[in-house]
Parts: sequence; C-alpha cells; structure tokens
Amino acid sequence: MASNDAPARSAWSGKWAFILAAAASAVGLGNMWRFPYLAAKYGGGTFLLTYLVLVFTLGISLLLLETALGRLTGQSAIGAFKQFGKKYAIIGVLASIVPFIIVPYYSIIGGWVTKYTAAYVFEGPAALADGGNFFTGFITSNVESFLWMFVFMAIVFVVVARGVKGGIEKANLFMMPALIVVAVGIAAYTLTMPGALEGAAYYLVPDFSKFSPELVISALGQMFYSLSLAMGIMITYGSYLDKKSSLTQSVVRIGGFDIGVSFLAGLMIVPAAFVAMGSGDAVAAKSGPSLMFVILPEVFAQMGGAAQFVGFLFFLLVLFAALTSGISLMETCVSIVQDGAKWSRKKALIAVMAFIVVTGSLVNLGYNGLSFIEPLGAGTTMLDFFDFISNSVLMPIVALLTCIFVGWVVKPKLIVREVTLSGPFKLEKAWTIMIKYVAPVLVTVILVAFVAAQFGLFKM
Ligand code: PFF
Repeated sequence: MASNDAPARSAWSGKWAFILAAAASAVGLGNMWRFPYLAAKYGGGTFLLTYLVLVFTLGISLLLLETALGRLTGQSAIGAFKQFGKKYAIIGVLASIVPFIIVPYYSIIGGWVTKYTAAYVFEGPAALADGGNFFTGFITSNVESFLWMFVFMAIVFVVVARGVKGGIEKANLFMMPALIVVAVGIAAYTLTMPGALEGAAYYLVPDFSKFSPELVISALGQMFYSLSLAMGIMITYGSYLDKKSSLTQSVVRIGGFDIGVSFLAGLMIVPAAFVAMGSGDAVAAKSGPSLMFVILPEVFAQMGGAAQFVGFLFFLLVLFAALTSGISLMETCVSIVQDGAKWSRKKALIAVMAFIVVTGSLVNLGYNGLSFIEPLGAGTTMLDFFDFISNSVLMPIVALLTCIFVGWVVKPKLIVREVTLSGPFKLEKAWTIMIKYVAPVLVTVILVAFVAAQFGLFKM
C-alpha cells in the first residue's frame, strides 16, 4: 500500500471482504424501515423513480469518489481531506458529525426491532396486530422503550468493545441472503391479499403530480443514508482496500445490492399498507417511522400457524442488518474521537458509549416525557428532527463540498488515476462531468428548491 500509515492499517483480505463489509454497513434500517415509509409517503412510483435516478447517477459516482479518496490517501475522512491542505479538513469534520447525529436514533429504532423480535416469541403475533396500539403503547412507555433501546445498544457496545465483529460479519454471510429470501416470500404473500395490487401499482407506476421539492430532498437524503455516503465512512472503508481490487466493480455491486434490498422492502410494505389502510391518500397521510412496525404484523397475523415463526424470523433478520450497521456507525464514531482527540481506544470507546446513552435517551424522551417538543411542526418528534438535520441538511452540504473539492480543487484526474490502478474505468468522462458539473448543480438546486418551498416561496 502506498498510504502513509500502511503498516499500522488493517486491510481487507480482498475485494469480496471489502464488498461484504461495505454492503453490511449499507444494508440496514435505512433499507427496511426508512425507504418503504418514504416511498409510501411521497407518492410511491414517483419517489422510487427519483430515487433510482439519483442512485445510479450521483450515488454510485460518490461511492466511487469516496472509496477511491480513502484508498488514495490511506486515511479516514478528516485526515483524507487534510492531506491536501489544512483548510479542507472542515469537509471531513462536517462529515464526521453525521454519524454522531444518526447513531442515537438508530439505536432507538434498533430497540424497536429488538422488542418486536422478542415479542413474536413471548407475546405472539395477535398481540402485535392490533392496528398500531401495541406500537404506540410501546414507544410512548416510560420504561419499556428505554429498556429495549439499551438492549440494542448493549449488543453493539459489547461487539465493538471486544472487537468481535468478525463473528457478526460471518453470520451476516447467510443472514443477508436470508433476509432477501424472506422478504421475497413476504412480498409474494402480501400481493395475494385484497387491495395489494393497487398498492403495487402505486409503488411501481410514477404519478408526476406527486412530484415536489420535498420528495426530491427526501430521496437525496435517503440515498446518502442508505449508501452510507457523505459521512466519511466509505472513505475509511476505501482506506483499507488494497490497490489490486477493482473499485468500479465493487461500488456497482455494493450499490446494486443496497438498492435491491430497498426495492424489495418497499414491495413488501407499500402494498401491505394499502391492504391495511385503503387508498393511496390515506397511506401517504399516515406513513411515517411507524409504518414497518404497524403494517407488517397485520400481514403476518393473516398467515395462520406460520405467523409466529415468520414474524420472528423477519424481525430477527432485520435485527442483524440493524446490528451490523449500528456497529459500523459506532466504530466510525470511536475512531473519529480517537484520531481527533488523540485518545486511547478505550477512552474514546467509553466517551462514545456515554454520548450514545445520553443522547439516545434524550431523543427517546421525545416520545413520552418531552413529547411537547415538536421541532418540525405539529406531530413531529425529536427523532424526526435528528433524522432531518443529518439527511436533509448536513449530508447534502457535505456531498456538495466533496464534489467541489474533487472537481475543482484537487481535480478529478487524481481520483481517476486511483481508480485505473485496479482496472479500466470506462465511464471516466461521464463520471468527471458528474462530479464537476452535474452533482454540484443538482445538489444546489435541490437544496435551494427545498428551502424555498419551506419558506413558501413557491408551490409545486
Ligand atoms: N446505511 C445504513 C442503513 O441504511 O441503515 C445506515 C448507516 C450505517 C449509516 C452505517 C452509516 C453507517 F456508518
């Protein structure tokens, strides 16, 4: 490796190890929980199409940029930018704030998944399929919701502290494919239910009257979140990659896998929401973070004797996906503190744990003790606020700065050279145009249109 700190850096054992680790970080709650509710909320097919277009243009380009930048510099986010001048470190710093905003509320949703996995064993499928009362009762409880959040956090803490994520990653080798198989099965079953086909049409066929600046910014934020972009993590992952492994092939595989899982999750949950709620307008109006937890138990409950097993298996597989992502988020936070404050790993670990416990508890209070705080308007919670700040504000800004930095400061050639070290780069021209012109303009337009719409300057 040509990197400055090559001897101290651990490396992936090859291209596939890298692809699997990156895919494990990418595939998580973003795919199973976040994508379907956004698709349901923002007009189904219109959201899906916007999302696909964004991923295949901007998303894959950025994935390539970040991993190549990491491999080129051999550094994680802050160091990677700093290598080109002290003043550029700010991009890395902004990117590094993102995982700290995400990890507390990721643990809350992780806690919900943990609770549901256990509930299928101890409370049975009928208890969970009661039109959302079970869910509301649980997330607003003063004790139970905290307890399950702590259980999820504890698993993540133990794995990160003991450095035993190898075991989880191995388990993931069959957990991820299993998740896909189960999701296909559930989607197929759901589609046989009355009203589901109307839901499938809503999900698959775009209706352009649904298009709005809010939809586009949500699709953009979802893309960053789901592909783990604009938060430094893919730079770090790239820094562990050897010079022989093809970057282009790897990013297409990681991106393709991630989109595939999101697509399936939507195909499973959106039609099910139609079965439970009726029309598209009702679905759009009621869709939010609760969607997966309220809708799927209704589908499982229809499965007779298999209900308990299918419900348990599904949430267990989602829990695995959430854990691998949670672990990767927490590890990112630890290494940022370690490098930034020059602390020992142990000290950084304890500080990050304390931060996660305190902030997670605070955000969770937004569903009970502090529910009077509605940061984004009536009915919104602190979780929505944390989610919004990271995905719709910070990440687009980081992505914009990154593209300007590579496109105009260090120049795309540098990244192109890194990419071609490990094979041909057929789309070099298109990629360069993307990073230099299209991406900065696109992200700026989306940001400006969104802010303008918020201030009521125009309506679509
Ligand atoms: N990409 C993950 C998901 O979609 O759930 C979220 C995530 C995981 C973001 C790990 C960042 C990260 F480091």
